[in-house]
Amino acid sequence: MTRVFSGVKPTGHLTLGNYLGAMRRWAEVDQHAADALFCVVDLHALTVDHDPARVRRLSRQGATLLLASGLDPERCTVFVQSHVDEHARLSYLLECVATDGEMRRMIQYKEKAAREQRRGGSVRLSLLTYPVLMAADILAYGADEVPVGDDQRQHVELARDLAVRFNQRYGHTFVVPRATKPGVAARVMNLQDPASKMGKSDDVGPGIVYLLDEPDVVRRKVMRAVTDSGREVVYDREARPGLANLLEILAACTGGDPELLRGAYTSYGELKRDTAEAVVEMLRPVQQRHKELCADPAYVEGVLREGAERARGMARPTVDAAYRAIGLLPAVAEPAVAEREAAGAGV
Ligand code: TRP
Repeated sequence: MTRVFSGVKPTGHLTLGNYLGAMRRWAEVDQHAADALFCVVDLHALTVDHDPARVRRLSRQGATLLLASGLDPERCTVFVQSHVDEHARLSYLLECVATDGEMRRMIQYKEKAAREQRRGGSVRLSLLTYPVLMAADILAYGADEVPVGDDQRQHVELARDLAVRFNQRYGHTFVVPRATKPGVAARVMNLQDPASKMGKSDDVGPGIVYLLDEPDVVRRKVMRAVTDSGREVVYDREARPGLANLLEILAACTGGDPELLRGAYTSYGELKRDTAEAVVEMLRPVQQRHKELCADPAYVEGVLREGAERARGMARPTVDAAYRAIGLLPAVAEPAVAEREAAGAGV
């Protein structure tokens, strides 16, 4: 069975973009069709200025929302990255395989580092090495597929390169993963700025619908979405990105087709009203389930504990094998290896 791994970073509240672009498909498709792991990648939240209490809160909330969105712990593995030591263990080994130049070429690093420097801040070393940790997340589990947005494809490419390089140098150890598109309605744009995507969890603003926004807040944000000049409702991503975004959100919520849907509207106002209601209705069961799960924190903790145990069981043998392959002395000598080496073989 195909193994799938994906992660959400607890750096901000999860958005409609995260849900339509990724989470919904994980629940509806991936957990049924694959051996899937979904991870709250909390170590990644420490690569930029952070508030410890907030990271903790967002990690718990992220895990709870993954369950609320329909991930079933009987069908897939939901866990928190820092609960499984294998990620950090493997990350170091992969740092010994990756190069400095390779890291500095990562587009996301260049952008984030430049932004940080403009603000006069310092760049954490972990921001540079972050893609290696992400590679470790993926390779530790032997994941075949990694459903990610376009902004993460370069990082998955790096994971592939590191897997191939490690295997060539030290013997076959890792599955070589590939990035997959997370879904159909993969690109929900910011309602106030349809040129940028609504998934940037670290931004705030009236153009971002959060999964836990109250219905009235959702309505207000959608009603105030920027639309393009003109009066006719057309579906044209290039010329009318604001309108196209609304049509796509409506289509994604109702299972329709944006091109067909547009014909039903003669005004922007009507389209906004229906889109707002469709989003509210889609989020209602997720929010309801989230509320129930919040009332039962012991259940969520139990799911995460079991998830981490299962994840550890999967990652451990691969990471141990990588430790041996790269030349680290096992703490407990394995009889077969000890014998061979005593006999002078492979020395
Ligand atoms: N870097 C991803 C993001 O910012 C999150 C992530 C971390 C991830 N590790 C991963 C995604 C492994 C997929 C697989 O969105």
